[in-house]
Amino acid sequence: MKRLLLCYAAILVALMMSQTVWAMETEDCLGCHTEVDEVGEDYVIAGELFAKTAHAEEGCTACHEVGDEHPDDGVEAELVATCADCHDQVTETYNSSVHAENAECRDCHNAHQALAPVSLSGVQMNESCQDCHGSTEVEETHARWLPQADVHIRSVPCVSCHSSSEKFVITLYVTQRQGNRAYADYELLDYQQLAERTEGAPVSSLLDIDNNGEVSLDELSTFYKNGEKSGLRLWAMMTPETVEHNFTTLDNRWDCTYCHAAGPEAMQHSYAAFPAEDGSYQRVPMEQGATLDALFGTPDFYMVGSTRSKVLNIVGLLILLGGLAMPIGHGTLRFLTRKNRKKEH
Ligand code: HEC
Ligand code: HEC
Ligand code: HEC
Ligand code: HEC
Ligand code: HEC
Ligand code: HEC
Ligand code: HEC
Repeated sequence: MKRLLLCYAAILVALMMSQTVWAMETEDCLGCHTEVDEVGEDYVIAGELFAKTAHAEEGCTACHEVGDEHPDDGVEAELVATCADCHDQVTETYNSSVHAENAECRDCHNAHQALAPVSLSGVQMNESCQDCHGSTEVEETHARWLPQADVHIRSVPCVSCHSSSEKFVITLYVTQRQGNRAYADYELLDYQQLAERTEGAPVSSLLDIDNNGEVSLDELSTFYKNGEKSGLRLWAMMTPETVEHNFTTLDNRWDCTYCHAAGPEAMQHSYAAFPAEDGSYQRVPMEQGATLDALFGTPDFYMVGSTRSKVLNIVGLLILLGGLAMPIGHGTLRFLTRKNRKKEH
């Protein structure tokens, strides 16, 4: 009996030791694989970004098997796990979609940078489509039926319309207008650009001035008052909280009211998102309903059908539902919302 216990204890110790070696390995791997000088450009991993992914917990060796004397042994590393091994549900959904013939997981994802949608911007989500669906081409085909297709595509990532993802939130990103055109020329500011403006304070303090982890309506107004001078604006995106993988064309996304009447629900929960140094995003919740306050809160963001003004909504929706020629409809909306928008012109 004693022997047996000793034996168990020995196994336990061995297991624990192998665990520490396991954990060390990822560190070791990163020691070389974050240095271009060490491994060359093709084999470099963005270490800080990798550390933020759920894959970091799995460790490099969950997916790669390398020889004992790697890299000197000349043995090619082997990929020992596929996406399907760990993501059976997503894989099942995706494989039964029409899109499965067109692209595989790796075409849209980098395993070393796999982040949840909440840690990315809508722009980054669109980037995974752009390699195959050129942005000018998409804008052209969509403009045949979608007014302001360019505005929509920048405010609504492809996956919001092309997957059955249902739960949406409005997320605001800090941008700077390039030139005078109202929409076409804007640029999300990256970490460095924001950090220059906050001078050592967290970049989120641009909006969350008191750093209490929430952006209040007051802070939003202050931002806009200061933004006038600095040229900063907020750009809103309607992003899905989770992404279903049945990429296809859904009939209800033709329906303008799918978003333009449902807006308020999505807009009850809104966030401001700030880039980290590694390019991922961190969100700060906004005071409830803040994005609904088109006048004082978010003068750049106005989703037809979602304001507190009943008249505006009804007129807006009638225009949308009536399917009036959009140049007229859009002109009318512009006219109706001129107060909200006058700062842009
Ligand atoms: C001493 C530095 C060093 C360490 C530690 C290291 N690597 Fe490498 N690795 C390299 C170099 C250099 C190359 C490119 C040389 C080559 O062509 O094999 C490479 C190539 C690779 C490749 C791609 C090329 C191939 O061999 O298929 C993979 C995958 C890889 N390493 C994974 C890992 C993993 C996983 C670990 C940790 C378990 C690790 N490496 C640890 C230096 C290192
Ligand atoms: C969740 C699985 C997974 C984890 C964890 C993972 N990798 Fe990879 N890695 C992949 C896949 C998939 C590829 C692409 C292989 C291919 O296309 O042949 C890859 C490719 C690579 C390459 C080749 C160059 C490149 O970027 O395509 C290197 C080097 C590499 N991995 C190193 C690492 C290191 C070091 C770690 C840990 C810090 C790590 N990987 C963690 C899945 C993973
Ligand atoms: C060894 C297991 C393993 C492998 C292999 C693996 N993953 Fe993951 N992955 C996970 C775990 C665990 C999570 C976190 C929980 C979750 O979302 O399922 C995760 C999370 C993710 C996320 C982010 C979701 C989040 O909530 O953080 C993406 C995107 C992702 N994986 C894509 C891939 C892709 C693409 C591949 C193939 C190249 C792959 N994974 C291979 C285990 C794995
Ligand atoms: C590796 C290339 C590739 C990537 C990446 C890619 N697609 Fe596709 N996709 C295709 C091809 C090829 C087709 C079929 C030809 C076509 O319709 O353009 C297609 C078709 C489609 C269709 C029409 C499907 C239907 O129902 O007929 C939609 C919608 C679509 N893609 C959405 C997306 C979205 C959204 C993304 C990004 C999240 C994306 N695609 C990323 C290659 C790609
Ligand atoms: C507001 C919702 C919406 C957004 C945003 C959107 N789409 Fe679409 N898309 C649609 C609808 C609805 C159709 C079907 C229209 C048709 O068949 O003419 C479609 C058609 C398509 C098609 C197939 C036919 C074609 O027009 O080429 C592809 C591919 C596609 N979209 C890709 C994308 C990509 C990539 C993005 C992001 C850059 C995107 N879409 C953004 C709603 C949207
Ligand atoms: C056509 C492009 C495309 C393909 C192909 C694709 N994905 Fe995704 N996937 C996305 C986008 C866009 C997101 C949302 C942004 C993000 O989290 O990366 C996403 C999100 C995810 C997430 C996080 C989901 C969530 O809601 O938290 C996982 C896990 C994932 N993908 C795994 C996979 C796996 C596994 C495959 C292959 C079976 C795959 N993806 C194929 C585009 C794609
Ligand atoms: C998937 C959601 C979605 C669908 C479907 C959708 N929209 Fe939009 N739309 C938005 C969002 C989000 C904005 C906010 C843009 C902003 O102000 O930042 C917007 C803005 C607009 C604007 C104002 C553009 C501007 O100049 O500010 C008009 C007009 C519009 N949509 C009309 C339509 C019409 C007509 C349809 C149907 C053919 C439609 N939308 C379908 C989400 C959607």
